[in-house]
Amino acid sequence: MDVTNVEAAKPSVRAFSGARRWVATVAASFITAYALDLVATSLGLLVVASGLLSGIGYVEALLLLLASYVFWGSGLWAVIKANWALLQRTGACTNILAKVGHDLAVRLGWSLRWRKLAAYVGNTATELAKEAPYYIGAGGFALFTDSVSAIDAIVFLAGANTGAAIYGFALARGLGYFLARLAKRGIYASFDTEWEPGAYLKEYYSEIEPEERETIAFFVDAMKDADRTQPALVFGVGPTLHHVFLAAEKVSEIHLGEYLPANLQEIERWLGRDPEAHDWRRFVEYTLECEGLDRPAPEEITFREEMTRARITDLLHVDLRAENPLGVENTRQYATVISAYCADSATGDKAEWATYMQRIAGLVQPGGMLLVAALRRSRGYVVGGKTFPSADVDEADLQAVLEPRFGRRNLTIQACKLDGPAGKGYSGVVLACACDRAERGMVALRRAATPPLPALSWARAVRARAEAQP
Ligand SMILES: C[S@@+](CC[C@H](N)C(=O)[O-])C[C@H]1O[C@@H](n2cnc3c(N)ncnc32)[C@H](O)[C@@H]1O
Repeated sequence: MDVTNVEAAKPSVRAFSGARRWVATVAASFITAYALDLVATSLGLLVVASGLLSGIGYVEALLLLLASYVFWGSGLWAVIKANWALLQRTGACTNILAKVGHDLAVRLGWSLRWRKLAAYVGNTATELAKEAPYYIGAGGFALFTDSVSAIDAIVFLAGANTGAAIYGFALARGLGYFLARLAKRGIYASFDTEWEPGAYLKEYYSEIEPEERETIAFFVDAMKDADRTQPALVFGVGPTLHHVFLAAEKVSEIHLGEYLPANLQEIERWLGRDPEAHDWRRFVEYTLECEGLDRPAPEEITFREEMTRARITDLLHVDLRAENPLGVENTRQYATVISAYCADSATGDKAEWATYMQRIAGLVQPGGMLLVAALRRSRGYVVGGKTFPSADVDEADLQAVLEPRFGRRNLTIQACKLDGPAGKGYSGVVLACACDRAERGMVALRRAATPPLPALSWARAVRARAEAQP
């Protein structure tokens, strides 16, 4: 495909690479450990020396110590979470053991949840170990010198804990600020060189994640109004098919558009029934359930898979950086366009995202329907330990970009807040359906039946081409 009209692409680079991540981690670990010691010890000594708490009894001292531990624990928790975000984003952090745990878990092929646990355990173990010198110091002074009483030692520990907590909150805030600056500068992993379809499928599509439950249900509902006589385009399909099954029964043909050849190869594997291809049956089952089928039988799932294979008639290379994302020669428009997590993922820049969305909207023919899903207020999401861009958009942004093209009354926009995936870089999604129902008087008639299958599916076309070759 000729993509000569591609605009100058912004290079996207990883924040750190290889050994530099280790050097950065070791340096940051030592600097932050010494800084923590300095702040905690100083505050502990200051509280004792000030005499502010002189005269308190054992019980009060012990209660104070207990309270200081709660405070210390919350500061530690803030640092652990900030370090995890930093690890995900850059591959480096301020704790050597957290990085060791994380990198080991990656090597062992552990899931994101276990990697996180490994990093958390490493981080916590280090912080607990750092407490030991304070106990030895305070206890030693209390035991072996007359000038330091046991209560003084407890007050020192409480002061040191408070210092450590304040330091923890400050460090976590600083790391958050650092990450925000990285995002602002557009420093992300590159789709061209760092995207791994296998890692994406494993991390996000081993089971149906909450965002996909919402997205598929929303799309299934919207597809009731699809024009059954016309082909649909799934734009930026990635290596996935979970938004394709829901179109199979509702449109005449399906064209799949994707930027990365590696992703299209993953789709081809599924179309060609490669035993190693990703298993989408659970997603097909959920799609059928959303369509109203109670507990779909295995044959019904297989039937939908086969219908999808037969309905897919074209795989297209697309690029949103081009004025015409389908290619210079291809000015085609579609009655139905589905684009999930593509424009918001192709860039971390909101203005660029708006341009990309306009280009996707431009692929919809007059009176047609556009279905969109985007991560909500996310600056990046993690795949295989690398952070890819996200344009930090929400429902107001989507409304602003779609309204001029489709009109307010033709838009349905839904924001979904999610529990759970915040560690991956997002905690919500926004879904939109732009459908000019007024212009589509025939829709009710067209809803009646499943359209006949196309004469030549993609798989059959490939087979026919292969057989025709001498
Ligand atoms: C997060 S994936 C979404 C894939 C799929 N739609 C899904 O829901 O899982 C983001 C997609 O955007 C595509 N992409 C990245 N840069 C692009 C560009 N310049 N033009 C079009 N698509 C692009 C990637 O190849 C990838 O398939």
